[in-house]
Amino acid sequence: MPVVSPDFSVLSEDFAASPYRWFAQLRERTPVHYEPAIDSYFLSRHEDVQRVLTDHEAFTTETLQVRAEPVMRGPVLAQMTGAEHTAKRKIVVRSFTGGALQHQVRAIRSNAAELMAPFLPRGRMDLVNDFGRPLAIHVTLDVLGLDKKDWLQVAAWHSGVAEFITSMTLTPERRRHCLDCAERLEAYLLPVIERRREHPGDDLISRLCTAEFDGIAMSDHDVTALIINVLAAATEPADKTLALLFKHLIDHPEQLAQVRRNPDLLPAAIAETLRYTPPVQLIPRQAEGDAVFAGITVPAGATVFCMIGAANRDPEAFTAPDTFDIHRPDLGTARSFTAAAQHLAFGTGLHQCVGTAFARAEIETVAAMLLPLLDGVRFSPGFRYRESGLYTRGPVALPLDFTPVPQGATARE
Ligand code: HEM
Repeated sequence: MPVVSPDFSVLSEDFAASPYRWFAQLRERTPVHYEPAIDSYFLSRHEDVQRVLTDHEAFTTETLQVRAEPVMRGPVLAQMTGAEHTAKRKIVVRSFTGGALQHQVRAIRSNAAELMAPFLPRGRMDLVNDFGRPLAIHVTLDVLGLDKKDWLQVAAWHSGVAEFITSMTLTPERRRHCLDCAERLEAYLLPVIERRREHPGDDLISRLCTAEFDGIAMSDHDVTALIINVLAAATEPADKTLALLFKHLIDHPEQLAQVRRNPDLLPAAIAETLRYTPPVQLIPRQAEGDAVFAGITVPAGATVFCMIGAANRDPEAFTAPDTFDIHRPDLGTARSFTAAAQHLAFGTGLHQCVGTAFARAEIETVAAMLLPLLDGVRFSPGFRYRESGLYTRGPVALPLDFTPVPQGATARE
């Protein structure tokens, strides 16, 4: 295990290649790591991360004004507090839970069946690039009520928006590119918003257009920001989690066999994937006053990054934390997708993910379709596993080989 030295940096190539190798040392020796190049503090202990995410007075989301607002074209949910946050969060939650969720599960199935169909007879599919990424975008466009024929264009704009939010350092050229993507996305959305105001349908954009807050309808600007917020929040972590789930199951063939035999184990496998390799690795906050962690003072006004990957592997929170075990007794599958989750992959506190139920349904539905079809599933020959991302993290690709599925014997929709 590498030793954290005074010149250790979370911005180094070593850390980017394999952050998990460093987490134990960070937690034990520098639980408050200062990164001078970006003037920010990184917290790695479960207890400290939980404290930051639940003490909303002491740690606010002010940092998002520079980190997200320029590409969201307005304030996002995570920046809001009080009655405004509760009301707008409720509108979004309603589109992702209850009856709406049932309806979306059917849409998820048909999107998944359509996207996997060309790859099944070939016996080869890159779970990230051929399937997971397009699926996450298709599914989110369905919920929003956007036209799926535009998905490649929306995906390209979305990746500029995501790059802006998740980059620690951006060159002026990349910054311009990201802002340009956001402007084009906004220009694409504005006429849609106008049409939905006149003819609302049964989709999230229509709901945002017709909802009122304090008796006042949301402006186009507010609706645009929330649409981009949902687009960005819903797509990236979902496709990464699906790929990570398959990666871990293939690496643990006995657990893969158990899940294939008994799909009721899927929620536990998904929850354990989220604990073991959370796709959202960093959550930023701003310290409103001086705050002391492990005897070290984080000064008022400082940016603090909660290291979710490190917190989820803290032995104070989970036994044998570096072991992937879908049967671990300290996970609590049922509460893993609720506010009471012990893992912090969805954050915690006021801003905990609004998409937890939807994410679970999406990944569970798709994995339950794929698993029975992928007989003899394995990594394609010559494949070398690589992950990327400091802020959000997942496999760059996951090419899988399996017994070809005859045309016609398609996925169970
Ligand atoms: C496995 C999939 C997902 C993971 C790991 C994940 C993770 C997270 C995390 C860590 C946060 C907290 C951010 C913070 O505290 O600042 C968050 C917030 C949020 N997530 Fe997710 N997310 C997932 C899927 C989704 C989906 C499918 C949606 C669709 C609606 C969604 C929408 C949101 C929104 C709108 C917020 C902001 C909530 C607020 O500030 O009140 N997420 N998510």
